[in-house]
Formats: sequence, structure tokens, C-alpha cells
Amino acid sequence: MKVRQGLIRTPPRERQGTAPMIPAKTIALKRDGGQLSPEQLAEFVQGYVSGAIPDYQMAALAMAIFLRGMTLEETVCLTQKMLDSGHRLPRHGDALRVDKHSTGGLGDKVSLVLAPLLACLDFHIPMISGRGLGITGGTLDKLESIPGFRTNLDSAEIATTLAKVGCVICGTTAEIAPADRKLYALRDVTATVESVPLITASILSKKLAESLDALVLDVKVGSGALMPTLDAARRLANTLVSVANRLGVRTTALLTNMDEPLGRMVGNAVEVQEAVDTLQGGGPRDLRELTLALASELMVGTGVAECADEARRQLAAQLDQGFAYERFVAMVAAQGGRLSLDTLTPSHEVTAVRSGYVSRIDGRALGDVLIELGGGRKRMTDPIDHRVGLELLVRVGDSVQSGMPLMRVYSRNAEHGVLDHCIRAAIMIDAECSPEMTPLILGRVETHSSLSDNS
Ligand code: URA
Repeated sequence: MKVRQGLIRTPPRERQGTAPMIPAKTIALKRDGGQLSPEQLAEFVQGYVSGAIPDYQMAALAMAIFLRGMTLEETVCLTQKMLDSGHRLPRHGDALRVDKHSTGGLGDKVSLVLAPLLACLDFHIPMISGRGLGITGGTLDKLESIPGFRTNLDSAEIATTLAKVGCVICGTTAEIAPADRKLYALRDVTATVESVPLITASILSKKLAESLDALVLDVKVGSGALMPTLDAARRLANTLVSVANRLGVRTTALLTNMDEPLGRMVGNAVEVQEAVDTLQGGGPRDLRELTLALASELMVGTGVAECADEARRQLAAQLDQGFAYERFVAMVAAQGGRLSLDTLTPSHEVTAVRSGYVSRIDGRALGDVLIELGGGRKRMTDPIDHRVGLELLVRVGDSVQSGMPLMRVYSRNAEHGVLDHCIRAAIMIDAECSPEMTPLILGRVETHSSLSDNS
């Protein structure tokens, strides 16, 4: 019989003679530390998306994975099945397509700078981003502080913007990794978020749907980060990098310090202002350095630059000559935004009550203050006041005198004063000596294919 490729259909299970999967048996296998087969994972993911497998069975499997871990083979397979639950963005033209993902940290506005910056060097960056929940801000919320800016684009609009500007930053579409959308909401309420294989499959099923040539990951370490310790962050980075490379996308990761917020601004409109300063060649040093380091990974990974130094030189010139800012303006206009950078007026300043050296700035505590002021959300449905923000006037290592301003607060809430003591407590001042400084980039992870233990 002649069969044309592409028209071969898998025969229904009854005709193949294989027994149907029994979800409880798959759950028991993982509960007892066994390894799930590709068929079991495929049936579970497909069954969950179609509704044949109910939430309670998926929750039980997620908890078994949380407690028992997965081998690299299983994690690759779970990621692939979740990716295959939806569509991928189609490729048009021959521009190299790259992106960055950050595990999220306070003040992290790198995406706003990195996407237009790389577009200046002829890359295409279809950056599908998320909203903030809890203390980590969301790129979409920051951009929505620009009047008119649209983040809910369909795949045709994503393709048009990409072709016109070279970069687009928007929310996910209904077609991208529907399995993750359903599973992530379930994990959020069943205490199964902090699992390396589940995080890996969740992040990569969305990023790989962008049909990328290369990806760089910024895995944050410290207070206010998804991974509080270097060991935990390295384990996550190793798995993410191994799985993405196994699925055909050149991927590296940087492990970066989150012991204090990135840059000076924390909030939404204030972070856009800081990103604009950086796009124009200014901005805080840590934000510029991290953006250049992540973008260099992509330039070297795709072979566009021979080494990190050459990549940095080319990238820095795009910032310093204003081209990256022009590209950002073009992206904002293409997505319906009207960029008017009116200066925000602070409501008040919080001052130091003792002298000494700033030894730590607790990102988690500052994130909580921002939420209380209305600049972040506790539940996904909460509204956000985009003009709420915090401006750090000191950084770790700075010497301060009692009475000196530590933080400028942007708030329209008349009750804001009650949070001042939380801000003071978040900025720890050591009277004795200046702290040992931790570098911004703590490590780098590249292909790690020997990883085979349960993680
Ligand atoms: N971000 C995601 O997209 N998924 C996770 O599981 C955790 C962080």
C-alpha cells in the first residue's frame, strides 16, 4: 500500500491491541519512585488537556513528581508533550530568532532593554512574557503602564510586529502550551510549584513554542528569587539548559545575584523610565551589565559574534548611539502605545534611623511593600496601580548617616506612611563594617548532558 507522508494516522488503541492507560497506576508508579514512559506522559498530558483526566488526578501526579523528581529523559519528554499540546509560532524569513527567560526578580526590567537591543543587530525576538504575581513583577504589567500599549496580540499580530520591528513583547496566546496554562494554575493551589522538572517543563513548553534558534536563561539566586540558594539555582539551570538543548535549541544560563533589586527602580512606570535611560546609554550599571551579558550569550551562541568581548562592543554601541531606544519606540508604537515619559512625583522619602553600611536589601520585603501600596498583586485578578513605585537611593555597600534618605516612594495611598517601617527594616544597616560584595553574575551553565539523576 502506498501511503503519502503526513497522512499516516496512528490507529485507534483498540486496533493497536494496547491496553488503555490507567491514571491511578501511572500516579502509583511515580509515587513509588519509578520512571514514566513517553506513552504514559503523553496520555496523561493529552488526557488532562482534553478533560478526560480530572484535576485531582493531575494534582496527585504533580505531587508525586514534586516528591520523587524525574530523570532527564522524563523531563525532556514531559516538556515535549506540553509543547505539543499547542501550536508553535510559525517562522518567516531567515532572521535568527532568539529570546531570554528570567526566573524573575525584583526590579528586573532586562527584557525591556534586551529585546529592542538585539533587534538592532537583525535578530528577531518574539518575547512571550507573563504578568507579575506575588513579589516578582511582570514584564507585561510594566509595559501596560505605557498608555495604549497592547500586550494581547494574536499570532498574526505577533508575526506582523516581528517582521516590521524585529521584536515584540506580548502575552501568551490561547494556542501556546495549553497544558501549561491548566497545570500551572493547578500547581499554584496544590503546593507543587517548586519542583525542578515541573518548572522546567512549564518554562520551556512556552519558550520553545516561539520556534527559537537560541535561548538564554537568567536564573536568579537570593532573597525574593524563585531559587533562594546557589545550589538550587544551579540544579534548575542545569536541567533547563540540558532539556532545551536536547529539544534542539542552543541554550545557556547565567546564575545571577538577587540579594538586592536590579537597578534602582521597583514598580511599573518607574521601571519603564529606568529601562528607557538604559536604552539611551545611561541607566544603572548592574542593569546595563546584566543586559549586555545575557545578550552576548545569544550573539556568541548563534555564531554572530566570535567572543563575548566582541559581542559586548557591538551591543554597547547600539545603546550608546541611541539605536536601541529608537527600536523600543518603534515597538511601543507598533503595539499601540504612546510613550510619554512624564516625570513621576514622589510622595515622600524614607530616611535612615542609624548610621553604618548597607549590608543587604531584602527584595522579598520590598516586594511585599509594593503590593501593599497597590503596585503588585496578591491574586491574578487584582488590579494594579502602575504609578506606584520605589526608588532605592542606596545600594549594598554604601555608607549611610542617620537621617539620610534611603528610599523615595511613589504612591497615591494616603496611608503609605505605615509601611515606612517595613522599608527601613528591608534595608539592613550594619554599624560595624562594609559587607563583602557578591558579584552580579555568580556562574554560567552550558550543556550538561550527563545529568541523569532524579532532580
Ligand atoms: N515560571 C513558569 O513559567 N513556570 C513555573 O513553573 C515557574 C515559573
